[in-house]
Amino acid sequence: MENIKFIPRDEIETHLEAARRIAEGFESRGMVGDSAPGYYIQTFGCQQNEADSERLAGLAKLMGYRAVSSPDEASLILVNTCAIREHAEKKALSIIGEYKHIREKNPELIVGVGGCMVTQRHRADKFKMSYPYVGFTFDTGAIHLVPSLVLKVMQKKGRSFVISDEYKIAEGLPTVRREGGAAWLSIMYGCNNFCSYCIVPYVRGRERSRLPEDILAEARELIAGGAKEITLLGQNVNSYGRDLDCGETIASLIKKICALEGDFRIRFMTSHPKDASEELLEVVATEPKVVKHFHLPVQSGSSEVLRRMNRRYTAEHYKAIIDSLKEKMPDISLTTDIIVGFPGETEEDFEATLEMLRYVKYDMIFSFIYSPRIGTPAAAMEDQIPAEVSGARFKRLLSLQDEICEERNRRFVGRRVKVLVEGVSKSDGGMLTGRGDMARPVHFKGDESLIGSFAELEITSCGSYSLEGKLI
Ligand code: SAH
Ligand code: SF4
Ligand code: F3S
Repeated sequence: MENIKFIPRDEIETHLEAARRIAEGFESRGMVGDSAPGYYIQTFGCQQNEADSERLAGLAKLMGYRAVSSPDEASLILVNTCAIREHAEKKALSIIGEYKHIREKNPELIVGVGGCMVTQRHRADKFKMSYPYVGFTFDTGAIHLVPSLVLKVMQKKGRSFVISDEYKIAEGLPTVRREGGAAWLSIMYGCNNFCSYCIVPYVRGRERSRLPEDILAEARELIAGGAKEITLLGQNVNSYGRDLDCGETIASLIKKICALEGDFRIRFMTSHPKDASEELLEVVATEPKVVKHFHLPVQSGSSEVLRRMNRRYTAEHYKAIIDSLKEKMPDISLTTDIIVGFPGETEEDFEATLEMLRYVKYDMIFSFIYSPRIGTPAAAMEDQIPAEVSGARFKRLLSLQDEICEERNRRFVGRRVKVLVEGVSKSDGGMLTGRGDMARPVHFKGDESLIGSFAELEITSCGSYSLEGKLI
């Protein structure tokens, strides 16, 4: 197991010690309980970032800060950024821009920016030069450093812009989990796939798997703490364990977690089709605790586009995995990611993507217009697609999928389903939102005390985007 790289425990401890020193400073000034200074964390991007933000929150708490619900009330603002598309970066930059005004009112405010955007050298440099009120930036491998970076700013020892040479696993950081019974569990970090459009391998480093015993210990802790749903996270969970050389695979890991006692269920994401093993499909089909939902990003229905995307599977191979899933689980919910307007995408290529939608009949798709990312091969490809062409294709894609969604949702009407009650509905405060095996959330009337537990519902109606049900 020599090739696994962990940050040594004593190094982690140094930074946790810095956190405790900060907390002692607040304590000595009576800044505890309701008088403790506030922290606010703004998170962009994927579930991996949300899981990282839970660790940032854990560190902020250890530093003696208390969670506040608006940046205006905060003494520490941490922003966890995303770089996946231009839009994600723009949004983060504009919000960080607004923090300037809060800082003008409160010169003691500490602002730190982390995540995928500032793991790119040109972005970190930009913050150094043009955002004097940002005290530090930290890359995706430097979360454990945050207390020391905060301390440095407090002691007026200067600003920091951390970009590591190497990304290691930081075990043993405190966390503040989200509410509602569903929990993230990162099982691995980084990505080795270098899809030609994607920035992730450049900002998350190489694949590194956590040890099975660490993952199982965390799963046990989550279940004991009342978690009803655990989502295993990784950029490509299908290659879990490859760097460990201990024979563990995503399938064997899921089986071990399922064997833990308790009333909980398991999801996982994301699965790269090139590594989707028959063994994994079998585990999903046979383990009652695994949710019968498979998120399998296809990106394009054209094998030629897939080749240029460096996805390393063909449309036919992808369809064969779908066939196998449907054969094992005729009612399975399938979801995917699609990129429209990849360089060189012809009308025919795009038609093949529409054809893929009709073939698979996804419950839901996450679709994106291609966004060139600096430093990726696709950004330098010829035949970049004009925005109006991508935009028009994107609309056609959505309108086809709307029809499919409705058709797929209709199969649930009249059925009884078991959902995990996640919280109050975002669109209608009088309703609760729950999630079952289907990809779509279900809205229903019920008491807020149900949040975080399972409920039995009968589905009463549906649209393209939502399902409604009633408690049985
Ligand atoms: N590791 C996961 C998710 C990666 S990011 C996976 O492999 O599926 C989530 C999605 O963002 C990708 O699946 C892809 O559809 C989209 N995406 C990534 N880079 C993009 C880019 N440059 N432009 C548009 N969409 C992109
Ligand atoms: Fe990006 Fe591809 Fe890695 Fe997913 S598998 S994170 S799309 S490079
Ligand atoms: Fe964004 Fe980084 Fe996730 S680029 S999508 S936050 S891995």
